[in-house]
Amino acid sequence: MKKVVIYISVLLIAVIQLSNVTAQQKSIKQKVDSVLRSMTLEEKIGQLNQYNDDWKATGPVTVDNDKANQIRKGQVGSLLNCLGTERTRSWQNIAMQSRLKIPLLFGQDVIHGYKTTFPIPLAEACSWDLDAMQLSARIAATEASASGIHWTFAPMVDIARDPRWGRVMEGAGEDPYLGSKIAYARVKGFQGNKLGDVNALMACAKHFAAYGAAIGGRDYNSVDMSDRMLWETYLPPFKAAVDAGAATFMNSFNDINGVPATGNKYLQRDILKGKWGFKGFVVSDWGSIGEMINHGNVKNEYEAALSAITAGSDMDMESRCYKKNLVQLVKDKKVAVALIDDAVKRILTKKFELGLFDDPFKFCDTERERQALNNPEHAKAARAIAAKSIVLLKNQNNLLPLSKNTRTIAFIGPLVKPLRQNKGFWDIEIPGIDSNFIVSQWEGLQNKLGTNTTLLYAKGCNIEGTTKDGFAEAVEIAKQADVVILSIGERRDMSGEAKSRSMLNIPGVQEDLLAALLATGKPIVVLINAGRPLVFNYTADNAPAILYTWWLGSEAGNAIADVLFGDYNPSAKLPITFPVSVGQIPIYYSHFNTGRPATNDNSHNYNSSYNDVSIFPKYEFGYGLSYTDFQYSNLQLSKKKMKVNEEIEVIVTITNTGKYDGEEVVQLYLRDKVGSIARPVKELKDFKKIKLNIGESKTVKFIIGKEKLSFYNQQLQWVVEPGDFDLMIGASSRDIRLKDNFEVVK
Ligand code: GLC
Repeated sequence: MKKVVIYISVLLIAVIQLSNVTAQQKSIKQKVDSVLRSMTLEEKIGQLNQYNDDWKATGPVTVDNDKANQIRKGQVGSLLNCLGTERTRSWQNIAMQSRLKIPLLFGQDVIHGYKTTFPIPLAEACSWDLDAMQLSARIAATEASASGIHWTFAPMVDIARDPRWGRVMEGAGEDPYLGSKIAYARVKGFQGNKLGDVNALMACAKHFAAYGAAIGGRDYNSVDMSDRMLWETYLPPFKAAVDAGAATFMNSFNDINGVPATGNKYLQRDILKGKWGFKGFVVSDWGSIGEMINHGNVKNEYEAALSAITAGSDMDMESRCYKKNLVQLVKDKKVAVALIDDAVKRILTKKFELGLFDDPFKFCDTERERQALNNPEHAKAARAIAAKSIVLLKNQNNLLPLSKNTRTIAFIGPLVKPLRQNKGFWDIEIPGIDSNFIVSQWEGLQNKLGTNTTLLYAKGCNIEGTTKDGFAEAVEIAKQADVVILSIGERRDMSGEAKSRSMLNIPGVQEDLLAALLATGKPIVVLINAGRPLVFNYTADNAPAILYTWWLGSEAGNAIADVLFGDYNPSAKLPITFPVSVGQIPIYYSHFNTGRPATNDNSHNYNSSYNDVSIFPKYEFGYGLSYTDFQYSNLQLSKKKMKVNEEIEVIVTITNTGKYDGEEVVQLYLRDKVGSIARPVKELKDFKKIKLNIGESKTVKFIIGKEKLSFYNQQLQWVVEPGDFDLMIGASSRDIRLKDNFEVVK
């Protein structure tokens, strides 16, 4: 009896909560309809218009000196790149002078932190720690929302398999499964418990879609892609973002097979708003509506506006095509007012959900801003995930971790002392706020080491350029040291938007500097700082120890020191393939087998190998070392045959057989041996990150259900086909430790 009472009361609570949510949504709908009824056509179009504030441009700028007047007339719905409670308050005050007092939305690229800078997203993805990435986004949202911002243009969820594309730094790498999990976590992090909470930011899944597949890795370039590749590889992280409740989407600059995303009805209406039922709104990327003229799909801005609004682009970032043409398009009966109303309702709904109609200044609390931007817990979280983002690529003779009692260390290289370099691209410089609170790599070691250690410094060379004048000094201090740490890499702004590179070498003479230091015979640890996979075969083949440190943000120096001296045992795994040469690109692990599978036996017999380089990458997807060792054993499947609607339980034991406590990312790959469409030689279908103390064993469990077996068939239906599957458990996509197989039966 007691159980029945409990069950009924739980059910009642759930019904009440659901009805509250429904009631709230209903009331917002009524409020939106009420505001819409009072709006003129010009005011409706004003809501679709977004301008850049004057602080900083993140695209080609159109100078507009009468923003204030336009806002007063209700002709602007949103501003981007407007920071701080004071500045946002001042613009919002002007919006409150408009006839209907519709509040402005303030958007910002809060990509990897706001005042506290976190590692660049591709570095964080190396952690495979979804909770840590969600926390990173949560803290970014807490700081940015306290600083007047309502909306971040993040997470960027573009799958990217071409490191020549500079924006690879902004996403989660090459894999749709890992990318989808990370997209979900980041949306949840940014948006928090619910929109309307004062520390919640609207997320924006971008760039919809397939922007990362730009031909030649050249930013903004065309994308030539089958529907299958689109659905199987590039759309899943966007679907995950919808499932996570992403409030907004941003479309992409590229065309897909000749149709620009901004004017792509199939993408924005059929898939996103239709099949996926997305209720938020889509903002165009900077000027992309007007850029359809360049694409050659429309003749002028009038046609561009028609194409974009018809295709489902709701808000116009910085092109002014809507402002200048929609009224005429309605008069010419080319655009129905209903189409504009749909876009306006989507935008007003978000403004109501954020609570901006009740209090347009709720995010402009200077005291909350002061507290949020000075919370030491944020730096701690940044330091923790930064350490988890550092990939141990090589550790010959266990040179690492270094002893804190090392007598003399020579810390050399052009990236030892700079501050802002550690922030990477898409960092935020907040007017009036000191951003030089970055812990440099030099400072990080000073913080870590006591007076027992002498820390010597030499720059050695610049990041770019040919001069070797600094080599002699660097070699001299290396000779005095017990160990050398060399910090080299790209400049922070060599990766990011519009940063395509045709060569991926470490710039300048930095590897020559390494050669000069190796000649001293001293043990050398190399730190490589970059926003993308680089090609560094000399370093990889000659340096005894290598840490890929990416760009780690505010706490870079402390995190690097934590790993160097063993206070954190590196656990990161690569979310993207590192090629041996640019010539291998595109190269990724989940490739098809082909009719003449590549071998690596240099036979050069009729197969799909290269004649001049290995078919294998330098470092594969999922690769990363630890200071300890992990043994994989006792793989068991609950059954060897399963029906489509059944499940198989997979268990495996992992043991820490080394000398350090550590974490391991246990990866599960499947191969569907035969399909009506060829299936990849392996696909990541699950992973677990576990912590194991020295000598400790844990059993890891995976469940295989039909979702993990499905793929898009010839008709693009999501199906499971009976047949044999290989199952692989690996420490990377190539380091497969245990195998088994099973059959799916009708
Ligand atoms: C840029 C980027 C986009 C960003 C927007 C606003 O061009 O493509 O990712 O959110 O403009 O800065």
